Amino acid sequence: MSVEIYFKILANEIHSVVVATLNKGLPTTRVIDIMLYDKNGIYFLTAKGKAFYEHLKTNPYISLSGLTSGSDSMQRKSITISGYTKDIGSQKLEEIFKKNPYMADIYPSKESRMALNVFHLYKGQGEYFDLSTKPITRTNFVFGGEELKKSGYFITENCKACGKCKEKCPQSCIEIGKIYKINQEQCLHCGNCYEICPNEAIVKLI
Ligand SMILES: Cc1cc2nc3c(=O)[nH]c(=O)nc-3n(C[C@H](O)[C@H](O)[C@H](O)COP(=O)(O)O)c2cc1C
Repeated sequence: MSVEIYFKILANEIHSVVVATLNKGLPTTRVIDIMLYDKNGIYFLTAKGKAFYEHLKTNPYISLSGLTSGSDSMQRKSITISGYTKDIGSQKLEEIFKKNPYMADIYPSKESRMALNVFHLYKGQGEYFDLSTKPITRTNFVFGGEELKKSGYFITENCKACGKCKEKCPQSCIEIGKIYKINQEQCLHCGNCYEICPNEAIVKLI
């Protein structure tokens, strides 16, 4: 999937996400709507009077998570992104109000909208996690020039193909071979393989 598809799911399907910022070194969260997306990232807005705005101006790095709807956890998909935002002022404000007509109920007049600034999340890394597939599906992605950091569990050449890791894997995502291999897109990162390996053949990059 191209990265834009994750932005589209965030803006059009999930829409309301939980965003974390730092407040004097401590994490703080609140619910924020993803108003727009394009190939360069996603856009949200806030009012200049809010604590959220102050946090963004002090430290523009955020982390957000959102969930698709579904009758229970096994029907849901999540998207998490950590990355850099920039304040783009009133740019795209009109477009946001056109695409999200409910905003006119909250900020009815042009004057009241003057409190609002738009933020662009333009560079970051993310994870798409789907519990509705069996085994689970996990995909990592980057955008805006961010480098993809390798993360997860990896079997090295020290593997003696003893099979202990495969027995303990809850998602059956370890492939047999001369050296066993973890299917990264199906791995839960539970760490069972790492714990059981008698040859210290598994590296943990978490
Ligand atoms: C469904 C929902 C969507 C929201 N979307 C936004 C939003 O897009 N922008 C915003 O500033 N506040 C939004 N809010 C309100 C904030 O969550 C609320 O003002 C919060 O207290 C702000 O956090 P702060 O105290 O850190 O500033 C939303 C609230 C809900 C329930």
